[in-house]
Amino acid sequence: MIRPLAFLRIVVPIYALFLIIVYIRRDPAPKSDQETESLPPLEIEIPKAIHHVMIAMPKFKPNSHSISWQQSGWKVEYWTEDACSELAQELNASYSKAFQLFPSGVLKADFCRYMVMFGRGGVYNDLDVHMMKALPWKVMGPSREGNKGPPSLIVGLEGDATTKGLPRSPQFVQWTIVSAPSHPVLLDALTRITERTPEFLKKQQADKNGDADVMNWTGPSVWTDAVLAYLDCTDSQLEKLRDLKTAVRIKDVLVLPKRAFAVIQGEDHKNPDILVKHYFSGMWKHEKSWISKILPWG
Ligand SMILES: *[C@@H]1O[C@H](CO)[C@@H](O)[C@H](O)[C@H]1NC(C)=O
Ligand SMILES: *[C@@H]1O[C@H](CO)[C@@H](O)[C@H](O)[C@H]1NC(C)=O
Repeated sequence: MIRPLAFLRIVVPIYALFLIIVYIRRDPAPKSDQETESLPPLEIEIPKAIHHVMIAMPKFKPNSHSISWQQSGWKVEYWTEDACSELAQELNASYSKAFQLFPSGVLKADFCRYMVMFGRGGVYNDLDVHMMKALPWKVMGPSREGNKGPPSLIVGLEGDATTKGLPRSPQFVQWTIVSAPSHPVLLDALTRITERTPEFLKKQQADKNGDADVMNWTGPSVWTDAVLAYLDCTDSQLEKLRDLKTAVRIKDVLVLPKRAFAVIQGEDHKNPDILVKHYFSGMWKHEKSWISKILPWG
């Protein structure tokens, strides 16, 4: 007769062996999308760096917007006024001179973003811009049309056919700019601003009660002019850009429709093409509120 203990000595190891075999032969655990697709890493030209400019916001504290970028896995750099000033010296003595002459933080912050994108490259964002889609974005990869490689500059439209009151049409946002270093559009923006700064300064000093003409001087207007000069569009391309529905590649530039960077309140936020959301807060509140002139709810 087999005693109970001896019985257990035989059965327990067999049962354990059975469990081990079942464990080894089980179905593999579900993997994340990226693992199952086993795609090669997206080929991109954009440096994996996020840039913010901290001028004109002395009381900045991390908020959900800035944290969204910190969690992207990319390097995050914050450019103070001193850091921008050093970069200006590194790039060009004329930029350095213009930077010292700007009479407001808004102008300096605008100019610094173009310098940072020209000198370093990556993804520039105002501090009130929230990351809505994990990096890298698909649009950073090679173009599906033709054999075009990855874009060196990605710009987003601020308007479509339903948008009214923007100074330019089409107009590109400059709260988010995605660029490889040394792009000619950024050089052109810096040149335009540098060369016209004495003229804008004179105008501002002559009109003591007037607001600085931020839009034309350093803002979306001069940025848009630099982008459009480089794209060199035909009339029909320009017409298409005014109400762009899907991304379009022109030269090494990818132009994104309004929803990518400029989705607003009341629009469908579930669209997977929405990459960032701009909250129109932060520094603009402390400065002359030119933004209220162009935004219906401003
Ligand atoms: C500023 O922009 C407005 C509207 O885009 C334009 O009419 C005006 O001529 C510009 N002024 C300068 C000095 O560039
Ligand atoms: C610096 O910028 C000015 C103004 O845009 C330009 O005329 C000059 O050629 C630049 N200098 C260098 C060394 O790039």
